[in-house]
Amino acid sequence: MRQPMVAGNWKLNGSSQGAKALVDGILAGLDDTIPAQIVICPPFVYLQQSREMLQSSDVGLGAQNVCAEDKGAFTGEVSAPMLHDVGCHYVIVGHSERRSLYYETDELVGRKFESAVNAGLVPILCVGESLTEREKGITETVVGRQLKAVIDQVGAIQVSQAVIAYEPVWAIGTGLTASPEQAQAVHAYIRKELHMAGGAADETRLLYGGSVKPENAADLFAMPDIDGGLIGGASLDAESFLAICRAT
Ligand code: PGA
Repeated sequence: MRQPMVAGNWKLNGSSQGAKALVDGILAGLDDTIPAQIVICPPFVYLQQSREMLQSSDVGLGAQNVCAEDKGAFTGEVSAPMLHDVGCHYVIVGHSERRSLYYETDELVGRKFESAVNAGLVPILCVGESLTEREKGITETVVGRQLKAVIDQVGAIQVSQAVIAYEPVWAIGTGLTASPEQAQAVHAYIRKELHMAGGAADETRLLYGGSVKPENAADLFAMPDIDGGLIGGASLDAESFLAICRAT
């Protein structure tokens, strides 16, 4: 049985006070009815304070990005061993905003993934197609290529032990959501590819991301290959985030 997961990607939002209020709100709303593993991914500078607040809870902590190098002359970067050191358990790699705005290639994403695993972190690997790619009918080609780059780097077993988030770029922050059937089709494809590459695909948690809200979460999470969500905008409000967690 795969435990569902809901991860909040705060992106470039918050302040020390705002982050504290948000974590407080999440902790106050936790109860036994939530079956999901909950993870929050604040900006780097709020990781430490969040770690302290989460200490006596089961809420996991993740970062939004990581350097592919462990140490050295890489000004402005944060390494996987550093993230582990401040108490992170997870790290998002290959988010579409990193791929498109910061020119991260499939190969770099693979190296970041490897660095995270080597440091004892669980990567949350994001894959997904743009609107043009979907319209051209090459969604599987794109997602398959993104997945294969990481499999080539670390092997299918390692990838299957991570978390994979399918996030169609056209659905991120746009209010457009993939229908449960559209998302399920890509999730099933990812699981099949992982299986064919020799990974333990039945155990891999596959999250859907892209405008998940309390109103659409339950229908998405009801699909057989959707094991939870990676939540952007709606994770900035404790009530909405918790409502999504309850929908797993
Ligand atoms: P969104 O972002 O929920 O705001 O669409 C999702 C993501 O980018 O992870």
